[in-house]
Amino acid sequence: MGRFKVTVVGAGNVGATAAQRIADAELADVVMIDILEGIPQGKGLDILEGCPISRSDVRFIGTNDYKETKDSDVVVITAGIARKPGMSRDDLLKTNYDIVKGVTEQVVKHSPKSILIVVSNPLDAMVQTAFKVSRFPKERVMGMAGVLDSARMRTFIAMELGVSVDNVHAFVLGGHGDDMVPLPRYSTVAGIPLPDLMSKEVIDRIVERTRKGGGEIVGYLKTGSAYYAPSAAILEMVDAILKDKKKILPCAAYLEGEYGINGLYMGVPVKLGSSGIEQIVEISLTNDERAALQKSAAAVQELVEKIGV
Ligand SMILES: NC(=O)c1ccc[n+]([C@@H]2O[C@H](COP(=O)([O-])OP(=O)(O)OC[C@H]3O[C@@H](n4cnc5c(N)ncnc54)[C@H](O)[C@@H]3O)[C@@H](O)[C@H]2O)c1
Repeated sequence: MGRFKVTVVGAGNVGATAAQRIADAELADVVMIDILEGIPQGKGLDILEGCPISRSDVRFIGTNDYKETKDSDVVVITAGIARKPGMSRDDLLKTNYDIVKGVTEQVVKHSPKSILIVVSNPLDAMVQTAFKVSRFPKERVMGMAGVLDSARMRTFIAMELGVSVDNVHAFVLGGHGDDMVPLPRYSTVAGIPLPDLMSKEVIDRIVERTRKGGGEIVGYLKTGSAYYAPSAAILEMVDAILKDKKKILPCAAYLEGEYGINGLYMGVPVKLGSSGIEQIVEISLTNDERAALQKSAAAVQELVEKIGV
């Protein structure tokens, strides 16, 4: 039996940090690929040289050649440009569409059986691009956003209450944009729903900070966007797939009628296992929550139409 193989496309902040986390966790052999010459090779060697200390025996290759990515089990697409201050995720649309399209064509050619996790923004439109271009079954194409958005919300809840993050579950649905739909009713601390623990004002403040969580980091960094928490979220998804954990996580999944949405990628709870998205979990929503999800879907639909996918 061989080891699993994960390709990370894009050796920038998110890609390299995710690749490092996967290698450190000894989850799989890792190939990191970028168009920049020398960057994946240099960062890759650097990460590999840390593996004796993290006691990980994985192979790690940094390359510009898709041949090295052949027969990957999972491919994480982080290639693209990131937000700069004043830019919305949607501003990235056209540039990243061309990049994700080209990358997906290469991935299909070299790893036709892989599971794709798209990270590039604007997330929901980019995962829809990868789905349409790859022609892979919908189970094998998903987007990372909900795990990150929920982790941000969990962080803020734990900070507010002074409790362990371990006790906190948070639920965020919808697109990975300013219209994302955090669901306090389904967010719990040691099983207790949030509205039983906090006033509406405090919950509203946490929801707002979660929605703007990415922008808050961009505001500090000025030259790029978040990557430590995003790469941790990628690791959790790759781990759930390779270990066939059947873990329920919020991911961007292709909806065909679920939640009243058809033919569009949206962040919803899914069961992640070795086949990819093994089930879309439908939860009941109030009228307000459903309306918020529809609004988020409309924003994604608009982007998807602009790029014609
Ligand atoms: N989904 C999320 O929750 C989430 C979170 C954080 C960042 N992002 C997105 O992830 C992407 C990457 O962010 P980052 O901070 O790593 O950016 P970055 O600029 O640090 O890295 C991007 C890398 O992609 C490479 N690249 C560009 N075109 C390529 C191509 N055709 N093939 C291979 N590589 C290519 C660049 O050379 C660069 O090294 C951005 O689009 C960002 O908005 C998404």
